Amino acid sequence: MTQRLLRGRLLTFHREPQSGEDTGAYTYLEDGALLIQDGIIQDTGPFTEISAKAGDVPVTDHRPHLMMAGFIDTHIHFPQVQVIASWGAQLLDWLNNYTFPEETRFASDEHSALMARAFFDQLVTHGTTTAVAYCSVHKTSADAFFTEATKRNMRMLGGKVLMDRNAPDSLQDTPQTGYDDTKALIADWHGKGRNGYVITPRFAITSSPEQMAMAQALAQEHPDCHIQTHLSENKDEIAFTKQLYPQARDYLDVYQSYGLLSQKTLLGHSIHLEAREIDALAETGAHPVFCPTSNLFLGSGLFDHGGLKTRGISNGIATDVGAGTSYSMLQTLNEGYKILQLQGLSLHPLQAFHWATLGNANVLGLEDKIGNLSPGTEADIVVLNARSTPAMALRMDRVDSLAEELFVLQMMGDDRAIEEVYISGAPSTGTRPNVPNESFANTPAMTRT
Ligand code: GUN
Ligand code: ZN
Repeated sequence: MTQRLLRGRLLTFHREPQSGEDTGAYTYLEDGALLIQDGIIQDTGPFTEISAKAGDVPVTDHRPHLMMAGFIDTHIHFPQVQVIASWGAQLLDWLNNYTFPEETRFASDEHSALMARAFFDQLVTHGTTTAVAYCSVHKTSADAFFTEATKRNMRMLGGKVLMDRNAPDSLQDTPQTGYDDTKALIADWHGKGRNGYVITPRFAITSSPEQMAMAQALAQEHPDCHIQTHLSENKDEIAFTKQLYPQARDYLDVYQSYGLLSQKTLLGHSIHLEAREIDALAETGAHPVFCPTSNLFLGSGLFDHGGLKTRGISNGIATDVGAGTSYSMLQTLNEGYKILQLQGLSLHPLQAFHWATLGNANVLGLEDKIGNLSPGTEADIVVLNARSTPAMALRMDRVDSLAEELFVLQMMGDDRAIEEVYISGAPSTGTRPNVPNESFANTPAMTRT
């Protein structure tokens, strides 16, 4: 039995704050404690109280830093760690010119394993303790992803993409091989340790109707698996989708007509939606996922968080690396704030930090396990330092409320603000990422102009 007591300022959410004054939505303790045993939070409260009850347990004192539930990223592409920051294209060209060629490299076990290590290092150093990831089309990429997740004992969700057309030959499966590989991956990984499998038809453009039917069969056979895909990110994408599925009432209807919409469905982007599509999202409980840095980077459009929320739809928020430009959920909230500002909505920092933790856990239906610091949940914790750069420290000298501090973290914070991360109760100190070495180097790229 391993016990550990963490001391620090503590913030955890119970529900979404309706405003900055909605103090019932969260607990904040100036001198708080978390008692952790075998990876689970056993007790939480004021330090004096919890330490008196706990007795002789080793204490790690994180004061004056802020302990919160680890961040959850609900949409990210594992094989795009070397695609991030690729210049000059919008969605379809970006996929064809940069992303698909890069993903072909994940046919190799060795490359997949190397990149899985790099990917998980990036997640952890940015304070992300759970992510929902797209792997490449290759089964080997998903095996590498779950192998690494298992080694690190992280709660991770992911799946190999199903894609059988409109991509390079070496990046296509078939309806049958996509089905067979997915079945094998579910058998090997789903529910094993902290892993969850996500059935992943990449998007309508790269899946034939035959493959969509196979995805439907998988969803019916495995109702406990999540489903993820992309929806209405870009106008050219929507037009092409309508050409490919002329019988569909709209883009979402492609997925709806194959029975792929439920509360377990995550729909990346969901920007340019028609009225019927919004009705269908509200009826089925499927979740749009807002990817702010990606939407700005690819010039895709402005996500209507306010409008969808008014319809009772609950949205995730995510990085979407490699179209997203940062692994940091803090930077994701920063750009998200600006996108909502452009639409006349000022996201309160308490709502923002709720979104990246309990809000995303709610979207995944995993709030009994992650996204908050209640007793019985898994001890995935991030420790935040709002004075992690000179500019932040300067600003912090004029801050006198929790909300203001959170906003400094949101607007100015990145991986430097992540003081420590606990995964299943174990500190990640000492597992700092290896800086890319020769095996990562891509010399041909250096010769291009
Ligand atoms: N649509 C289909 N595949 C992708 C992808 O890899 N990234 C983004 N941003 N959109 C997609
Ligand atoms: Zn994506």
